[in-house]
Amino acid sequence: HRLPDLLKRLPKAELHMHIEGSLEPELMFALAARNGLSLPYADVAALKKAYVFGNLQEFLDVYHAGTQVLRTEQDFYDMTWAYLERAAADHVVHTEIFFDTQTHTGHGVDTDTVINGLHRACVDARSQLGISAGLILCFLRHLSQAEAFEALEQATPHLDKLLGVGLASSELGHPPEKFTEVFAKARQLGLRLVAHAGEEGPPAYIWSALDALKVERIDHGVQALKDPALVARLVREQIPLTVCPLSNLKLCVFPTLAQHNLGAMLQAGLVATVNSDDPAYFGGYINENFTQTFAALGLSSQHAYQLASNSFEASFIDASAKQAYQ
Ligand code: ADE
Ligand code: ZN
Repeated sequence: HRLPDLLKRLPKAELHMHIEGSLEPELMFALAARNGLSLPYADVAALKKAYVFGNLQEFLDVYHAGTQVLRTEQDFYDMTWAYLERAAADHVVHTEIFFDTQTHTGHGVDTDTVINGLHRACVDARSQLGISAGLILCFLRHLSQAEAFEALEQATPHLDKLLGVGLASSELGHPPEKFTEVFAKARQLGLRLVAHAGEEGPPAYIWSALDALKVERIDHGVQALKDPALVARLVREQIPLTVCPLSNLKLCVFPTLAQHNLGAMLQAGLVATVNSDDPAYFGGYINENFTQTFAALGLSSQHAYQLASNSFEASFIDASAKQAYQ
């Protein structure tokens, strides 16, 4: 049992987790009751039965339904706190949390409510749980660039609470270059840049995330291995890839975990990391991703140290703090 133990206890950073995707069914029902809302599911068991997905879009539809219960700053605080407690228990010492604002403004919840709730939980977690947390605002790529600009503008009063911006939601048909100007604007504001690319979409989307958006990390990126020239570039430039194995399994990106290409990515010299994506929906938090993937692929303690080291190297913590973790 030494390897599973090592995987659980290893200090690690999590770099790809959507906070709305950490909303557990039990808390979803509690928030619905608190806000006088009803869910289209009789109970927790019925809701969990709906967590079967054939692809990314089928998941996004269910995920979006779940976000409707989030109304008040305290709701956003409670959801974030619950994640941070679980992350700390998994020996995550640093986390960079994705969130959307467009989902919530679409429900009449303003950007201030979202960001203030998330940020207050992150501040409390540093003192009470000993975990550092940053926030990355993800634009929704199925919406227009004009709407992304509006989201950025609404978040600008909270610039000091943000680490960066990202790009999430339906990938196919929404290439990164659709958001070139809004990413340039975010960069001017001093924000760090990441984007989902090569989850379901082609290697071309990874190229354009790098060249048009100028992102510093690729979220997922598992399709990169289809393009040797792209792999060569990602290795040469040491561009990190935030891989989410259980997500890929649940969204049918790979038919089984044993067929996941994480081992091949590490073998190729890519700076891959392991993350949970939407842990309440995909069957586990970060340690569950580590233990199941290591078992399925037969990875070793050397791989574990490499992945933990990659997670800090790929993070946006400052250089001196990074050194302390290596
Ligand atoms: N939003 C939440 N999870 C996502 C994922 N895996 N891909 C794209 N958008 C998402
Ligand atoms: Zn994601």
